[in-house]
Amino acid sequence: MKALTQTNIPGAKKLFSGKVRDVYELDDEHLLIVSTDRISAFDHIFPNGIPGKGEILNTISNLWFKNIGFMRNHIVETDYRKFPKPFCDHDELKDRAVITRRAKKIDFECIARGYIIGTGWNDYQKTGAICGITLPTGLKLADRLERPIFTPSTKADEGHDENIAFEHMQKELGKELSDKISEMTLKVFSFAGEVLDKCNIIIADTKLEFGIVKDELILIDEVLTPDSSRFWEKEKYTPGVSPLSFDKQYIRDYLNTTTWDKNSPAPALPEEVVEKTREKYLEILNRIKTVLN
Ligand SMILES: Nc1ncnc2c1ncn2[C@@H]1O[C@H](COP(=O)(O)OP(=O)(O)O)[C@@H](O)[C@H]1O
Ligand SMILES: [Mg+2]
Repeated sequence: MKALTQTNIPGAKKLFSGKVRDVYELDDEHLLIVSTDRISAFDHIFPNGIPGKGEILNTISNLWFKNIGFMRNHIVETDYRKFPKPFCDHDELKDRAVITRRAKKIDFECIARGYIIGTGWNDYQKTGAICGITLPTGLKLADRLERPIFTPSTKADEGHDENIAFEHMQKELGKELSDKISEMTLKVFSFAGEVLDKCNIIIADTKLEFGIVKDELILIDEVLTPDSSRFWEKEKYTPGVSPLSFDKQYIRDYLNTTTWDKNSPAPALPEEVVEKTREKYLEILNRIKTVLN
């Protein structure tokens, strides 16, 4: 199996390529979004992809979109055979592409955290707080928070996203919309927590994206995938210890053992790391399939 790291659809209008997705324009109101096998870490895209990753992400997102009944999302069509020409003639799009409503993006990453890890842990160690939310003293790495918190960050096109105070978001978007986004982010996170508990997975945190279509706030992009969330093995979970995870953490940990400085172009990932990552992404898909359909 070969990784699909780029798409090329003659006759179609590619709007742009994100780190993972290629986005095509269908018309003024619709996009066609393809999840490729590209993988990024520390804001760099690696030259080699993870074979099948795009299908895994797309399948996971679609399962969640279908099952999150309390909020609308961008999905219009998931079956590539029903796509218009020329897309329906490209069977490499099977299970990796969706037609979506084209939204006006909310330019913040909407993050919910139930456990303290990653940049949240770094900020807590420096300031005792995350995004201005002061936390109890003495928390250990990977500790569970008393209740999940909403911690938005800026969505930087270039460079690193930055955690910000909720007040900053309120200033930009207004109180009503910001409150709604915070409420929905935490609601999606707690729904995911309940579902995943049944297959022995802890969801530690997740990043959502929202958009607006005809004055309505909807979920866009991807939801509750191993690219956007941290998934931990419940049975192995011990506070104070970096948990066994089914997500990108494995790649980040591997990169931290190399000499790559995270500024120069990213090196190719070794075959073994590619295969292990693929196994982790497949494992989380298979677990989710036992609790959602
Ligand atoms: N329904 C939608 N309407 C408009 N933009 C969208 C929609 N869904 C996703 N997007 C945007 O399409 C892009 C998807 O590409 P991706 O590789 O995920 O980007 P990124 O590098 O920002 O993670 C993102 O910029 C995302 O915000
Ligand atoms: Mg994205």
